[in-house]
Amino acid sequence: MFEPGKKIGEGHFRECYAVEGEPGLCIKKLRSDLKPLQKLHLFLFKRDPNREEFLTYQSLPDELKPYFSPVVEFRGKYLVTGRPMDHDGSHSLSLSVYGRVSNEYFWSDIDRIVSLLEKYNIWFFDAFRLGENVFVQKLSAKRYRPVIVDYKRLGWKSYPAQLNLLLNSERKKKFYRRLRRFEESFRGGKKMH
Ligand SMILES: Nc1ncnc2c1ncn2[C@@H]1O[C@H](COP(=O)(O)OP(=O)(O)O)[C@@H](O)[C@H]1O
Ligand SMILES: [Mg+2]
Repeated sequence: MFEPGKKIGEGHFRECYAVEGEPGLCIKKLRSDLKPLQKLHLFLFKRDPNREEFLTYQSLPDELKPYFSPVVEFRGKYLVTGRPMDHDGSHSLSLSVYGRVSNEYFWSDIDRIVSLLEKYNIWFFDAFRLGENVFVQKLSAKRYRPVIVDYKRLGWKSYPAQLNLLLNSERKKKFYRRLRRFEESFRGGKKMH
């Protein structure tokens, strides 16, 4: 049984907590202050983001799994998942905290993720929308890798109201638009690491 410790992050729907004595794990749960409209949204479209993430992780092709933070346990309200750590034992940072990344391994992994998503026909818009959903994990001084920590919504489900996204060609267009913006925001740049 894992106990939530200090709060380490929050998004629109969920809060994330450290796990005492387990630096490589964290616990996600629904925010306690969800607004009525957010509750309705959850009810209508996704029901439970933690459950979605749990099921998604299980169904991900093996080739893609290393780029997604693994789900360790799903227990009703709690989702226990990996918390990316760097080679020196510190916690990895999200892109939004870290800033621009100029590490070539990181970006070749992004290319690989994109080609695998395309291969399996998974149109995953959320990952490349916000820097807070992708972490920069330093595997060594030279080698960095992206780890996606929020993947509650895959494909058209993320935009249930946009019927045009039922068309594969439209999904593809949107996906690549997102990706271009993501690269503009986070690739290379002045703040070198
Ligand atoms: N596996 C993780 N490791 C470290 N931090 C995480 C992890 N998952 C989430 N977080 C942090 O908590 C925040 C909220 O979690 P997230 O799953 O994105 O919730 P939401 O579904 O509300 O967007 C993230 O933006 C990130 O900062
Ligand atoms: Mg998020």
